[in-house]
Amino acid sequence: MSKKQFDVLVIGGGPGGYVAAIRAAQLGFSAACAESNPYADPKGEPRLGGTCLNVGCIPSKALLHTSHMFEEASHDFADQGIKVGTPSIDVPTMVARKAKIVDQLTGGIKGLFKKNKVTMLPGHGSFVGQTEDGWDIKVGDEVIGAKQVIIATGSTARHLPGIPVDNTLICDNIGALDLDAVPKRLGLIGSGVIGLEMGSVWRRLGAEVTILEAMDSFLGAADQDVAKEAQKVFAKQGLAVKLGVKVGKVTPAKNKKSVTVEFEDKDGAQKAVFDKLIVSVGRVPNTDGLNAEAVGLKLTDRGMVDVNDHCQTNLPGVWAVGDVVRGPMLAHKAMEEAVMVCELMAGQAGHCDFNTIPWVIYTSPEIAWVGKTEQQLKAEGVAYRAGKIPFMANGRALGMGAPTGFVKMLACAETDRILGVHIIGANASELISEAVVAMEFHGAAEDLARICHAHPTMSEAVHEAALAVDKRPLHF
Ligand code: FAD
Ligand code: NAI
Repeated sequence: MSKKQFDVLVIGGGPGGYVAAIRAAQLGFSAACAESNPYADPKGEPRLGGTCLNVGCIPSKALLHTSHMFEEASHDFADQGIKVGTPSIDVPTMVARKAKIVDQLTGGIKGLFKKNKVTMLPGHGSFVGQTEDGWDIKVGDEVIGAKQVIIATGSTARHLPGIPVDNTLICDNIGALDLDAVPKRLGLIGSGVIGLEMGSVWRRLGAEVTILEAMDSFLGAADQDVAKEAQKVFAKQGLAVKLGVKVGKVTPAKNKKSVTVEFEDKDGAQKAVFDKLIVSVGRVPNTDGLNAEAVGLKLTDRGMVDVNDHCQTNLPGVWAVGDVVRGPMLAHKAMEEAVMVCELMAGQAGHCDFNTIPWVIYTSPEIAWVGKTEQQLKAEGVAYRAGKIPFMANGRALGMGAPTGFVKMLACAETDRILGVHIIGANASELISEAVVAMEFHGAAEDLARICHAHPTMSEAVHEAALAVDKRPLHF
């Protein structure tokens, strides 16, 4: 049988990989995508969508939504005169709903592959070697030829030595999204994005949540004004975040029903017993098994595939995108890079603006930002003007019962160009897009100040923050 040959072979079917395969096909390349992980598919077939669709963005947001509704029904409806009695949560139904959404979306990508004539190759992909016109890649037991290769193998949860993750008692993101009941006492190691989102889900449903964080500061990557507000609000909600923690011995009980965590913080050595423990201390790139060393693929000190701004590796015709390369581990960043790479391959002006990649944390209130934080501008010695508007001064927010938080805009003192926008509040995930568009077009605060915003909307707070940069807010 002759060797299958493609213009573009993508290794990995997550947001970086499936988007790359679809865009390559749209641009007229013959495209294939190798994916190995079955993620417990009932048919035993590899499921497309990667971490994001199977065990990341989508399932976590489904659980966040259900738990948010539960919390509103439990605590907020009464204020608005809605009487529902005491709601109860049926965790298996909540988890089954989440699984259905995941099935729908992962199956949908198979449909998109068909529509775009992308060949799906089930199996693990690894480099065999360079050929006259490209690369040989082994997928499963078959060797496939490709003129260009895009590595999109993503990442997996980082585990800690001495903390055995079994995804039943001690979980990473995979088990954390599949708990079958609300744990009475939930411990999380790491108060990053997963710690806060998963901690919020199970706290809202009634768990007593303790997050053990190594750093002394809370949400160090966020603007510190936002981080301070978030810390205050989360503490009020009952999310106990302990900072400056050194986690020691972790001992599962013999019956595997609880786990004891020894740790040290400013109050000295302590012990805590949890019914479930989630380890959320970052992620590691998936480069094992690519046979990278044999073909001379350069990795960074942190084990990522080394790429330039155009996602080119050191090997001719080999590109890499998404979590397996530098930059934020975000699905939309992976997709942007994927599109850029395919357009560059097609001789077009592929583009990815790494300064305007938004961050969102889907807690309640939501947290979203784009561009520089105030502490970064100070450290870089950039002169800026800030405009800050609390949602308390926004009619729509009050009507929605969501007065918490604010919008803060940072603009260059000299040119008025927007350098960063930081939002904590309801719908921050949607509101941030306006700031991204403005920044992508090199907009000034004055540009946003002169744009008509619908009334009453939360987006008026973005408008007012732009006005506040020039010290002329109208409603605050
Ligand atoms: P992945 O999604 O990891 O996909 C890589 C794929 O490659 C996997 O399917 C893997 O099986 C496959 N693979 C690996 N090696 C091989 C091989 N050798 N051969 C064949 N296949 C291979 N990001 C957001 O932007 N928003 C969010 O709300 C968000 N929430 C998240 C919540 C959680 C709990 C987690 C864990 C992550 C979340 N993320 C979120 C991050 C997001 O999931 C990742 O940034 C994104 O999935 C990265 O896409 P990727 O294509 O680079 O890699
Ligand atoms: P993270 O990098 O966001 O946070 C990890 C946290 O663990 C940090 O605060 C770190 O200081 C802490 N930590 C590290 N080692 C520790 C130790 N030994 N003891 C105690 N604390 C320790 O990583 P996380 O939460 O695992 O998420 C991984 C990535 O997934 C995120 O960085 C993000 O890229 C992506 N993600 C994105 C989401 C979104 O966009 N809404 C949601 C969830 C994940």
